[in-house]
Amino acid sequence: MLCGTKSCVILIMCCSQGCLTQHVQSLYTSCPSLAADKALLLKLRKSTGYTFINCKKALEKFNNDVTQAESWLHEQAKKEGWSKASKLEGRKAKEGLIGLLMGDNAAVMVEVNCETDFVARNEKFQQLVKDVALSVMAHNFSKKQTGYIKSVLSSEDISKLHFPEGSSLADQIALTIGRLGENIGMRRAVSLAVPSDWHIGSYVHGAVPGQVGIEMGRYGSLVVFQGGPKDGTDTLGRKLGQHIVGEAPVSLGNMDDIPCGESETRLLPQTFLLDPKYTVGQYLTLQNARVLDFIRFQCGESTSQE
Ligand SMILES: *[C@@H]1O[C@H](CO)[C@@H](O)[C@H](O)[C@H]1NC(C)=O
Repeated sequence: MLCGTKSCVILIMCCSQGCLTQHVQSLYTSCPSLAADKALLLKLRKSTGYTFINCKKALEKFNNDVTQAESWLHEQAKKEGWSKASKLEGRKAKEGLIGLLMGDNAAVMVEVNCETDFVARNEKFQQLVKDVALSVMAHNFSKKQTGYIKSVLSSEDISKLHFPEGSSLADQIALTIGRLGENIGMRRAVSLAVPSDWHIGSYVHGAVPGQVGIEMGRYGSLVVFQGGPKDGTDTLGRKLGQHIVGEAPVSLGNMDDIPCGESETRLLPQTFLLDPKYTVGQYLTLQNARVLDFIRFQCGESTSQE
């Protein structure tokens, strides 16, 4: 059977008497190998995250062979990643994920943006968020440190980082942009290291299920505190983190600050979200704990630096 790109035009039938050539007008349905199989197309799109058009092109090129189609897509992506990245630069990217990685008396929180929620749910994008967080962790905690150290990294700082095996995060981002067809930006990152008798509490809201070793979601918070119940510091840290995500305080305040009602933006005099009988300050006193610092990231929010 000879097939044109759009339809089958010529049908050659061979039998013992010889070959008979027939001209046949037909549609895709009678010529299945030429069109991208719909189920395969969806599968490839889901597993790779490449654009619909590219997945279709790849399946058509390799006669619906998914493995060949996928490796061809990866090759193309490498070539096109950088040119695509520069083309998409400047396109609005307000969706994405906050990634939160906890270490030994240390923590890293990052924000990576993309254009749509669809891409934020793609596992290639989520892998990138994880890679960024791991790179920041490796970069900022390679040396022995003492005391409380907080580092805030800009998107420029982040794109200069390298993976342990040498490739730069900037390359990885371009590749992911090429794969997913959306502008992607490293928004910001913060890394914390605390003395061994301090604690870091954390909370992620709207968490993506199925992540191992990292939490990701739309909101994240880190809270640095001392004291707390002997076996309950994790729970206390989580509750404080939940309050910070929910109530969005902008400053710490003092233990003896008088609450100024609903619009209170200082953490300590705010009404405690998880036990509204108390202010956060009063609750901490009951728990014999003291909060020293906190950070809250909301995906896509505008910050004062911008
Ligand atoms: C973490 O990395 C940033 C960006 O390179 C740097 O400015 C900061 O000093 C680092 N902090 C530590 C504790 O190494």
